[in-house]
Amino acid sequence: MQNAAVFWDKVSEKYAKAPISDEEAYLYTLNKTRGYLKATDHVLEVGCGTGSTALLLAENVREITASDLSGKMIEIGRAQVLRQGVSNVNFIQADVLDADLVTESYDAVLAHNMLHLLEDAPAALQAIKDHLKPDGLFISKTVCSFGQGTPMKWRLLKILLPIMQFLGKAPYVNFMKAKDWETMIADAGFKIIESGNFPKKALSRYIVARKT
Ligand SMILES: C[S@@+](CC[C@H](N)C(=O)[O-])C[C@H]1O[C@@H](n2cnc3c(N)ncnc32)[C@H](O)[C@@H]1O
Repeated sequence: MQNAAVFWDKVSEKYAKAPISDEEAYLYTLNKTRGYLKATDHVLEVGCGTGSTALLLAENVREITASDLSGKMIEIGRAQVLRQGVSNVNFIQADVLDADLVTESYDAVLAHNMLHLLEDAPAALQAIKDHLKPDGLFISKTVCSFGQGTPMKWRLLKILLPIMQFLGKAPYVNFMKAKDWETMIADAGFKIIESGNFPKKALSRYIVARKT
């Protein structure tokens, strides 16, 4: 399988143009996240992609550091910030494991649709914990292994995934159950505050946890 940065660089333009797959779930959890953030917060987003979520949350916090492994995603994000004239979102190209981010200086860390793409999720969770201030919040949305009622399109994609990965058309994906993500997050030193699929049919698990 190809290097993750190469894969995400390659798909960045297409990703930027793609519509949000479940807008209802996206807006619902975005508002939930707003409820957890404070106007004084410095927030770190890991795996921010093209920064659309960071831009939407910018007015709710003091500053957002939006980071991503892919230099191309970051380029698109920086162009969006310039176009929109937003002054409190800073983009940096960085792996979630990057030691430069480890400063215990963030009030909250966001990881949306990215934990399941990591080959070493426990190491990433440890790094996220290190990025956070004591009592800081970790807010994640993670695609989980599918249950009953999953749309046929997703079932087919899962079956075809190994072929797509072999051809360089899909990234590494770690399908875990929501309960197992909760356990992994708790084991990394967090207390789970909230966990659920919003709305119920959403394929992504929304988990809010506090650094202990
Ligand atoms: C599915 S996209 C999600 C983007 C955005 N968070 C969203 O919800 O639209 C996954 C993102 O994670 C980034 N990513 C993958 N592995 C990463 C890593 N080890 N460190 C930081 N970012 C990573 C990819 O470059 C990509 O932009």
